[in-house]
Amino acid sequence: MIHARGVAKHFLTRGARVEALRPVDLDVARGAFVSIIGPSGCGKSTLLRIIAGLETASEGTLTIESAADQRAGFVFQDAVLLPWLSAEENVRFPLDAAGVPRDEGDATARRLLALVGLQGFEKALPRALSGGMRQRVSIARALSYDPPLLLMDEPFGALDLLTRDRLNDELLTIWTATKKTIIFVTHSVEEAAYLSDRVVVMSPRPGSIKKIYDSPLARPRGERTKLDPAFHQLMADLRRDLA
Ligand SMILES: Nc1ncnc2c1ncn2[C@@H]1O[C@H](COP(=O)(O)OP(=O)(O)OP(=O)(O)O)[C@@H](O)[C@H]1O
Ligand SMILES: [Mg+2]
Repeated sequence: MIHARGVAKHFLTRGARVEALRPVDLDVARGAFVSIIGPSGCGKSTLLRIIAGLETASEGTLTIESAADQRAGFVFQDAVLLPWLSAEENVRFPLDAAGVPRDEGDATARRLLALVGLQGFEKALPRALSGGMRQRVSIARALSYDPPLLLMDEPFGALDLLTRDRLNDELLTIWTATKKTIIFVTHSVEEAAYLSDRVVVMSPRPGSIKKIYDSPLARPRGERTKLDPAFHQLMADLRRDLA
């Protein structure tokens, strides 16, 4: 679905040239769950933002096979919700902006909030929700306009481990139910190993792709995955590559 060839990025700030991403070749198949892992500053967010069309590449070509009018859904590290709108109104916001009729938007928002486990919180304002709940609202919002591609930039990085584990399982359930293609940036080897079909390891700043692992782990993932020696081997390989 995505083909990046020699995609690179530099920024010019006050006359200085900052190398953000060295040339990257990457293919992502439709429906795949791909994680990107690498040290801080190696260009993970930059790559994701280029794929999202929020940034343009300085070099190389990027091909995304999807209808031209379909934007990718983007989930940021910190949930960026409008504080004066309820959970339901935040999820509906992109639909309202696109002129989708009110009752249709309402139905979609309620369905998505249920999908992320937030039924009963439709009317809650963001300040009345926990960090994990706010992050689930932003996932529901990213799904609202049914994008074929979901880009997630360390979505669970700020959460405690138990909440993160629970949201990882919820995300896999959503991924299975919606058949989205997901590109997921993380700092956690465990998260990358647990979730993904492929794990892309990046080298330190300015980053490029160091290695790509195709996961040997069966689906569905669950408690059994965490006992699988292949899971521990994959994590050990990732830790070694990142060291
Ligand atoms: N708008 C910008 N202007 C100038 N330099 C930038 C800009 N955005 C990113 N950079 C630089 O590009 C490099 C890569 O940044 P990026 O945010 O992609 O890293 P990252 O891998 O996502 O890091 P982290 O794990 O800390 O989020 C860094 O050196 C950063 O300073
Ligand atoms: Mg980043």
